[in-house]
This record gives sequence, structure tokens and C-alpha cells, in this order.
Amino acid sequence: MTFDELIQTALKQRESARADFSNFRVGAVLLTIEDRLFTGCNIEISSFGLTICAERVAVFKAISEGLRDFKTIFIASDSTKITPPCGACRQVLWELAGDIEVIMINCHASYQKAKMSDLLPHSFDRSFLIKNKENI
Ligand code: THU
Repeated sequence: MTFDELIQTALKQRESARADFSNFRVGAVLLTIEDRLFTGCNIEISSFGLTICAERVAVFKAISEGLRDFKTIFIASDSTKITPPCGACRQVLWELAGDIEVIMINCHASYQKAKMSDLLPHSFDRSFLIKNKENI
């Protein structure tokens, strides 16, 4: 799939969103290093705190299928503004997908690129836990 097709796939994925409360649909496409593709959309229910973002749906689907190595995530929203991933998703993506490229797309298919390490500088991850193992 070409870069433009991946952008269109992320935009299309918004159609699966269950954004009944926010009316803000998000679609995501996560690419593995072998170019396998996992999609996600945001899913909201009436207990708002249980909402899950599109990015986390995509990464959890991929992890649950046994994939471990990723290179890019495409994230498309309904906004005219280019929408970055939320803080919770940055942490999850950093820990489970590493320093991947993030393509942030608006509703008109304009986009910006960033690396996860730029979006989540000075991050907490498992390396802190391992260093302190003797203290647990
Ligand atoms: N949302 C995402 O799916 N990804 C983000 O990175 C930002 C926020 C969703 C969560 C909620 O369903 C809606 O957008 C409004 O916050």
C-alpha cells in the first residue's frame, strides 16, 4: 500500500468509530516492520471513562495477534486541525511500539510527521523498573 493509500485507510477507518458522545471520530492504521496493517477506531460507551482511543485499539489488536515490531502509525481525525495522539496513547505506543513514526492527519488528508520520542520526551518505561528490581 502506498503512503497516500495508508492515509486514506486511516481516514476511512473513522467510519467504524463509535463516537456517539463526542461525535469526534478517529481512525488509526498501525504498520508492522513487515508491512502488516492493523486498524483501529475510537470506541465510546455511556460510562465515558471506559472510552478507548483508536491508537490503542490498533496496537492492542496487533499485540494480541503476536506482532511485536512496528514502524509507523497513521492517525486521522474529524478535525480540520492535525490531531496528535493523547497522552495515554503516547505512553502505550512508546512502551509497546517504541520510537515509531507518527503520521497525524486531519479531515482533509493534510498531515504532519513526528517520532514518538519527540512526542513523549523524558518518558517513563520499563527500564526504570528493571534498574530498581532489587528494591521491589
Ligand atoms: N481520541 C482518540 O481516539 N485518539 C486520540 O489520540 C485523541 C482522542 C478519541 C477519544 C474519544 O473517543 C474522542 O476522541 C474525543 O476525545
